Amino acid sequence: MAARRIVLDDPAPRAAELLAAAAEAGSQIALTGGSTPRRAYELAAEAGSDWSRATLWWGDERCVGPEDERSNFRLAREALLERLPGPGPAIRRIEGELGPVRGAEAYEGALRDTFGAGLPRLDLVLLGLGPDAHCASLFPGAPALDERARAVVGVERAGLAPWVARVSLTVSALAAAGEVVFLVTGADKARAVSRAFDEPLSGAAPASLVAAEAASVTVLLDPEAAGTA
Ligand code: 6PG
Repeated sequence: MAARRIVLDDPAPRAAELLAAAAEAGSQIALTGGSTPRRAYELAAEAGSDWSRATLWWGDERCVGPEDERSNFRLAREALLERLPGPGPAIRRIEGELGPVRGAEAYEGALRDTFGAGLPRLDLVLLGLGPDAHCASLFPGAPALDERARAVVGVERAGLAPWVARVSLTVSALAAAGEVVFLVTGADKARAVSRAFDEPLSGAAPASLVAAEAASVTVLLDPEAAGTA
């Protein structure tokens, strides 16, 4: 499906609006890690929405404990959850501390308990994009890209820093979401944006696989990432 591309001087407020609206609607939402979403999470917390009916999942997690500064859950806790004025959402974090194998099994089980057998139908998945065009913890050329039956994979070797094992939703699970939103900023991502959303799909650019398979894809970019600055 062709991705809807939105270029804004600062795309974080738009990402925050999408998150807050989904929360208000009581959605099943998957958050991303990395540094880009921090401001979007802070702004989403300030929007004054009711998060109490929403459920938060994660697209991927580093295999560290929830207090570790590399934890994607910790990022969301600090930037979003602790800042919510009212009751928070249900939390279904990936237990990275269990390691890639047991962590993936546990998360697959949690998804199955909520969504039943088959792929999870998350309402909104927020993703970042790496300079190598990875998304979640699906790195270029990784065996995890070929996984079609499972919703979750353990990733022993990360393709970029931090060099810790990961647990990640698969291409199919990410693409099964009602809406996939990429939030991408900075000139160092411009080439990856072209590879992910303009060029033919390829395992060398994992985000292109998700974008091609998903029913609805929005790409929020700043002018630098869009290559129009
Ligand atoms: C992670 C991610 C990863 C991230 C990209 C972009 O856990 O590392 O979920 O896919 O979104 O690497 O990261 P930045 O926002 O830091 O550039």
